[in-house]
Amino acid sequence: MADAPVDSVVSVPVAVVGAGPAGLMLAHLLGRAGIETVAVDTRTRHEIETTQRAGILEADVAHDLVGTGVSDRILRDGHEHEGIEVRSAGRPYRIDFKQLVGASTWLYPQTDVFVDLADARARDGGTVHFGIRDTEVLDVATDAPRVRYTAPDGTRHEIRARYVVGADGSRSMCRDLVPEDRRVRYGTEYPFAWFGILAEAPTSAPELVYAHSAHGFALISQRTEAVQRMYFQCAPDESADAWSDDRIWETLQARVAGEDGFRLMEGPITEKTVLRFRSFVQEPMRWGSLLLAGDAAHTVPPTGARGLNLALHDVKVLAEVLPRALGGAGEAVLEEYEPRALRRVWRAQHFSYWMTRLLHTAPGASSFDLRRQLGELDNVVGTRAGRAYLAEQYTGWPTRDQAH
Ligand code: DHB
Repeated sequence: MADAPVDSVVSVPVAVVGAGPAGLMLAHLLGRAGIETVAVDTRTRHEIETTQRAGILEADVAHDLVGTGVSDRILRDGHEHEGIEVRSAGRPYRIDFKQLVGASTWLYPQTDVFVDLADARARDGGTVHFGIRDTEVLDVATDAPRVRYTAPDGTRHEIRARYVVGADGSRSMCRDLVPEDRRVRYGTEYPFAWFGILAEAPTSAPELVYAHSAHGFALISQRTEAVQRMYFQCAPDESADAWSDDRIWETLQARVAGEDGFRLMEGPITEKTVLRFRSFVQEPMRWGSLLLAGDAAHTVPPTGARGLNLALHDVKVLAEVLPRALGGAGEAVLEEYEPRALRRVWRAQHFSYWMTRLLHTAPGASSFDLRRQLGELDNVVGTRAGRAYLAEQYTGWPTRDQAH
């Protein structure tokens, strides 16, 4: 296979495996630095565009989308949020990001980030092949790695590159190319999953609502004025089809109910999915000419919406070091990548784990566990330091000055 004849061969400095937001943002940033890329993805553009993902961006990420010329659509269609509501024991607590840490987040769905990036690539003449199959990534231990793939029309192609970036998501094939005896995989599983819905209903609250309740966790998010995104904690083996709309609304209403009389605005449910998740990191993030970015190297549970933000931080660092490596500084520059990326990765790993454990009810938890958890929640929402910690972690860390 590795040397079977192909229908075309192209040479570019960087081949990108995975054309989700991380792969495309990297291609975009490298394009701005005059570095040509070819990005490939096994999914079609339509598949990526229609797969619901998280919806919260750090302000720095929003700023980068506009500032690097991807698109300014976020300024029109996105919504800046200056806080979130945390509900505990039926009481609402506002976490005021602006007041606590001078920061904000942007509600702008990942699918829109993807559309903006794919459009920007098309506008700027970047090469992206969607819907490919039989991907082979070869010779990553050498300085002449290759990517081979079959196009949707059945023709076979080869990309020759100096570097290959594996941005191929949580089921990455690229990460398996780091030899088993040279890599470490860290991770933990959770005894619950999320039931995610899209509903045609008006907005129920001005900001996101994260609810801890005796019945389990719920998250009320938004997509547009007329479409809402909501999640509730469920068993990992739950089947989405087993849930009627009525049962879903009843479950969500019970989890957000409280002494303030808060109720969700209901409407037809247009999508139901059970989302399983885990915490995972593979080190190293670089092997020879292969660099891993985003979910390929690390995944976090969804609570706090760190995943996309983290992936885009990886590619921001890569977009800084790769041009220097290609421009004559040589491979040694790439050694900067992993430590810079990993510091944020492990901070986000902790935060996502912590926020998940803080807000979900573990099956089989003892009465001590439950009371202790309420004590912890009280420490978070009931003290300024607790609220500031949550606000600081949730809104992200400044890119330049990670010490603060
Ligand atoms: C969304 C998802 C999250 O995991 C989160 O923490 C906040 C919002 C969302 O899909 O909108």
